[in-house]
Amino acid sequence: MTEQTVVLIKPDGMEKKVVGQIIDRFERAGLMLSGLKLVQFTQPILDVWYSHHKDKPFFQELSSQMMSCPIVAMVLSGEGAIQKVFDICGPTDPTEALVGTIRKDYGVDKPHNVVHRSDSVEAAKKEIGLIFTPSELF
Ligand code: PPS
Repeated sequence: MTEQTVVLIKPDGMEKKVVGQIIDRFERAGLMLSGLKLVQFTQPILDVWYSHHKDKPFFQELSSQMMSCPIVAMVLSGEGAIQKVFDICGPTDPTEALVGTIRKDYGVDKPHNVVHRSDSVEAAKKEIGLIFTPSELF
């Protein structure tokens, strides 16, 4: 099934200057860029984006990090895009990721895991609606 999913290159990924290399990995896997821009996150957006983590002890740290600089946001489309992007990124914790995944190759630990990706079709819909307008998607 053709799906859409969101990837954010988080501040640690922006600082490492690996934006081109990350996009290249998705393109080489046959995924199509349907939307791409820089976004400055704000607390109200993060309150909704990470609403499922609002009561976690790391929520403030996560929010501060995500607002620390403009970050690249993209929508990727393709057959089974959610799973494909999951496999290319690796699990949330880079120390558990396989060599050749984005998080293993560029990440350090959970707070510094380089990319965010949608967990599910429902999460992708929510995330797209929070940062992209329909006219920004192709
Ligand atoms: S949980 O509690 O298991 O559901 O959380 P987890 O899946 O491990 O992580 C959820 C997201 O929070 C980020 N995270 C952190 N950010 C900053 N500081 C700390 N300490 C921290 N711990 C976890 C983690 O990178 C996940 O972000 P996303 O954007 O979903 O990858």
